[in-house]
Amino acid sequence: MQTKHFINDPTHLVQTSLASLTLTNPSLAFDSLNKVIYRRPTKESQENPKVSIITGGGSGHEPAFAAFCGKGFVTAGVAGTIFASPNTLQVQRAIMSRVETRKGVLVITFNYTGDVLNFGLAAEKAKAAGIDTEFYAIGDDVGVGREKGGKVGRRGIGGSILVLKIICALAEAGGSLKEVYNLAKQVADNLVSVGSSMEHVHVPGREIPAADSEEMVPNDEIEVGMGIHNEPGSRRVTATLPELVKIMLAQMLDPNDKDRHFAHITKDDKVVLLINNLGGVSNLEMGGIVAEVYKQLKEDWGITPVRAISGTFITSLNGMGFSASILKLEDTGLGPGKSMLELLDAPAEALGWSAPINTETWNAKNDSTMEHEADSSRDLKASNLSIDPKRTLSVLKAGLDKMIAAEPEVTRFDTIVGDGDCGTGLKRGAEEVLTALSSGELPSDAVSFVNKIVPVVEHHMDGTSGALFSIYLNALVHGLREQDSGSTKQMDAKTWAAALKSALTALGKYTPAVPGDRTVMDALVPFVDTLASTGDVKKAAQVAREGAEKTKTMKASLGRAVYVGGESEWMGKIPDPGAWGLSEMLVGLADAS
Ligand SMILES: *[C@@H]1O[C@H](CO)[C@@H](O)[C@H](O)[C@H]1NC(C)=O
Ligand SMILES: *[C@@H]1O[C@H](CO)[C@@H](O)[C@H](O)[C@H]1NC(C)=O
Ligand SMILES: *[C@@H]1O[C@H](CO)[C@@H](O)[C@H](O)[C@H]1NC(C)=O
Repeated sequence: MQTKHFINDPTHLVQTSLASLTLTNPSLAFDSLNKVIYRRPTKESQENPKVSIITGGGSGHEPAFAAFCGKGFVTAGVAGTIFASPNTLQVQRAIMSRVETRKGVLVITFNYTGDVLNFGLAAEKAKAAGIDTEFYAIGDDVGVGREKGGKVGRRGIGGSILVLKIICALAEAGGSLKEVYNLAKQVADNLVSVGSSMEHVHVPGREIPAADSEEMVPNDEIEVGMGIHNEPGSRRVTATLPELVKIMLAQMLDPNDKDRHFAHITKDDKVVLLINNLGGVSNLEMGGIVAEVYKQLKEDWGITPVRAISGTFITSLNGMGFSASILKLEDTGLGPGKSMLELLDAPAEALGWSAPINTETWNAKNDSTMEHEADSSRDLKASNLSIDPKRTLSVLKAGLDKMIAAEPEVTRFDTIVGDGDCGTGLKRGAEEVLTALSSGELPSDAVSFVNKIVPVVEHHMDGTSGALFSIYLNALVHGLREQDSGSTKQMDAKTWAAALKSALTALGKYTPAVPGDRTVMDALVPFVDTLASTGDVKKAAQVAREGAEKTKTMKASLGRAVYVGGESEWMGKIPDPGAWGLSEMLVGLADAS
């Protein structure tokens, strides 16, 4: 249970959170005394009034309910304290003085005793005052079956947002109060949901429950059927995600589970799938959950939803759980533009709603993929720069072999000043290059030769150094082309140096590292510079080695070594592993030239 909060005072928390909605949506106003968020009147709303929809409930379910206020969605949201219904007076204020009442008002809550009583009483009072008002309580949860639920009936959980979305779109489209009310009932009757959570949540300001209390769900267990206020579900299970999803789908769809069979949904029905984050599940995990539910729905039940919507709609604070809902799309009989699906897809300017994919995109069912073969002919075009392939290979091999042999040493350095993978990374790259060069014909053209190495490094080396080497080699191909005047030319040290230098300039666009920063540049730059000025490979390799040696006394200013502590232990003794590995290779290369 996560018990740390940025804001511990629950009153301040609810007030400021509601107030924030007027900052992020300027069309909303806030009645802070009554904790009502409502849509500001506009010219349009005054000239062409519509049915107003008032909802609400305890706080702690954000974005529900106030953040669903906005054009195309809810008219006003009334908030209670955390997990407690607002009182009748608050709701009454919302109905009587914060919304347009000429076309009638639908007061709609989730099916919880406190909400039903307070919102229901306020609705009755509004009726008595002559306002055309209806009340409805949404129940979509099947987690607690009829037997256990007894008189309490179905609760409202995640799927309820679909009811609100659809009826609010109908109100926006000019539906009458009677139509809106009937549709709420129809949608809820075709909706099933079930939630699961790994933990109960901590309510800011409340005591932290004891470790052995019933409120603490053991580490290896998941509560199936968990409500949105820490209410227990039907049972606790030890299950993997696929096992859990199997249980949840059966609770929603199995016609033999008489206790829970609230809506009959089969593979012949068009359905909408909604996966709701209870507030604390990472987006990464939510994606995995959506994929699992979708897969099982398709494979085990033969159902492919016409819409799959995933998001954070109705939370239980930062609940470590989710709910799944399935809505069967039934004919509304309301005519064109007013099917459940069209109303669901209709735009809504509410902060809490996130279903950005529009009808045309769903309907296109376009499953084409982008498969352009990369136009490699240009990249692979040979140059007029010839090399002796056998000799080039033997020199390169000598360098790479020396780098491979240095792996234990480089690993040791990197274990002290880095994350320990530099040595094996360099070794893997070198081995793969040698393997690639040992098969097929060896090009006698410099560009083609380097081009044979580029993809190997790109595929087999990772991390920062892999990216740096890949950029460098690609830039080297370009650098070589710059040396190609169109007439045949035998490669020599100077020509290599010019190409290597041009590649170095290109690399500078992507890394700020320069000699002195304790990186591979401390070996690479002096090598290239010396080769360019002297044409002497042995001399160049020697200064590269000196550059690598010098890194021993440098402070890291870039790369992972910056975060490694204990500098006093290794300062003066341990060189930068990448610079060291490269200098080994350059020395090996020079010795064989
Ligand atoms: C809501 O709960 C009541 C009891 O509190 C129950 O009688 C009713 O059937 C429930 N409504 C729905 C839609 O399940
Ligand atoms: C999908 O889009 C591609 C590219 O525009 C088009 O060629 C193809 O016909 C489309 N497929 C369908 C099923 O619409
Ligand atoms: C230079 O290389 C290009 C591309 O391989 C080739 O078409 C051209 O004939 C070459 N020029 C000479 C002079 O060899």
